[in-house]
Amino acid sequence: MNKQPMSLLINGETCAAEVEPGRSLLDLLREDFGLTGTKVNCLEAECGVCTVLVDGMAVNSCSTLALQCRGKSVTTIEGLSRDGHLHPLQAAFIEHGAVQCGYCIPGMIMNAKALLDEEPDPDEATIRAALAGTLCRCTGYQKIVDAVAAAARQMRAPAHQAKMAAGAGGA
Ligand code: FES
Ligand code: FES
Repeated sequence: MNKQPMSLLINGETCAAEVEPGRSLLDLLREDFGLTGTKVNCLEAECGVCTVLVDGMAVNSCSTLALQCRGKSVTTIEGLSRDGHLHPLQAAFIEHGAVQCGYCIPGMIMNAKALLDEEPDPDEATIRAALAGTLCRCTGYQKIVDAVAAAARQMRAPAHQAKMAAGAGGA
């Protein structure tokens, strides 16, 4: 099938690609750009491990056509750390023991990022609802929910807000 040229922003950088019409965003990210932090599992929009942000919205990249993202801004798990510092969500998942095998964690964190960008002070039910599309076979979810709540508290703290205003760390 004929490839079509496209460009998009990936983690803040302009990227160009030649893409077949039926190719998924997941495949483009992993195979052309080496962004293997976005995981592969069901390929049927069921498990959420492939979640990335497209213009700030959490989407399953396995069921999103790459060409649908022409001109858009895509954020993957690799785009969250800044200047060698983990995003508060990443740090909180480690601190709270929310990572076991780790396979679901990039998808969990990207869904949590989309939530906290919209709702900085979510209650537990809201966190659980936001993460409901990402399946974890290991953790029982409670530590993940605790980690998201802890990251939300940290991101609301004045020190973090001041750092963001200065343009440093923890996007
Ligand atoms: S691999 Fe995309 S939802 Fe499962
Ligand atoms: S930590 Fe293993 S699937 Fe979630």
